[in-house]
Amino acid sequence: MNLKGKVALVTGASRGIGRAIALELAQQGMKRLILVARDRQKLAEAAKEIEARGAQATIMAVDLTKPIFVNVAAAQLWRSYGPIHLLVNCAGVAYQNSFLRSKLPQVQEELSLNFLGTYTLTQIIARRMASRKEGTIVNVSSLMGKVAAPTMATYSATKFAIVGFTQALRHELASYNIRVIALLPTLTDTDMIQKFELFRWVIPVTPQQVARALISGLHRDSPEILVGWQSHLAAWCLRFAPWLLDAIVQISSPQKLQVTGTFGA
Ligand SMILES: NC(=O)c1ccc[n+]([C@@H]2O[C@H](COP(=O)([O-])OP(=O)(O)OC[C@H]3O[C@@H](n4cnc5c(N)ncnc54)[C@H](OP(=O)(O)O)[C@@H]3O)[C@@H](O)[C@H]2O)c1
Repeated sequence: MNLKGKVALVTGASRGIGRAIALELAQQGMKRLILVARDRQKLAEAAKEIEARGAQATIMAVDLTKPIFVNVAAAQLWRSYGPIHLLVNCAGVAYQNSFLRSKLPQVQEELSLNFLGTYTLTQIIARRMASRKEGTIVNVSSLMGKVAAPTMATYSATKFAIVGFTQALRHELASYNIRVIALLPTLTDTDMIQKFELFRWVIPVTPQQVARALISGLHRDSPEILVGWQSHLAAWCLRFAPWLLDAIVQISSPQKLQVTGTFGA
């Protein structure tokens, strides 16, 4: 994809991977970045950094789990700054817990942001891209959208959903000249993982590494973009030695969180 002079909307752009992606896209010569998240202050800081790189920045402070607000805001954005050529659905939330101790409100939050939030914005933007017969959509899944692991059952479920959603849309929207891509970062050093008990031997990458992998994937027209050698190794094992991957996942998973005992009567 040629990024120069184009407009992108990036969710989760106030911090972490989304912010790094927005900055890298500005560095690549995009004309305007539309930054979406809830924290207006942090979005304004990211916008300043983008403008320092020579691109224009617009912020949209909205809770992506509230479809009515998202609809209104996205329609206004398209009218004022459209067309949007690239949509990056990056906002996400993750809770790590033993499944037996998992809490429904946290699961609902994961589902309403990671899956339904992505669905809502994608439908709004994809309809407009379809009428112009041009666009690229990047959905941020995770290596955990391919390899599920103990203590992350519900988060993994949302990320598997994103991989399926992306695959189906890739075929369905191809006739409208819309490319749909999945980005699958491995563990990345952001706010999200600060309270996590980490998996043994998994070395976090930086958000900047994820952003750079996305850019090279966009240039190569890859349908799925894996980040880091550990992800490539995991994908290889999944394909050729799934039994080995199962064993590695089991022994590398955080033990303390896998609570044993009696639950209920
Ligand atoms: N970190 C990892 O190890 C890792 C690995 C693989 C995949 N990922 C995926 O990468 C994406 C970004 O993760 P990250 O590590 O950068 O997380 P992060 O640092 O916690 O950032 C999450 C982003 O999502 C936004 N957000 C959260 N709730 C929102 C809501 N209700 N409405 C709108 N925006 C909301 C946050 O902004 P506000 O708080 O300002 O709203 C923030 O910009 C996620 O989809 C995650 O699943 C992360």
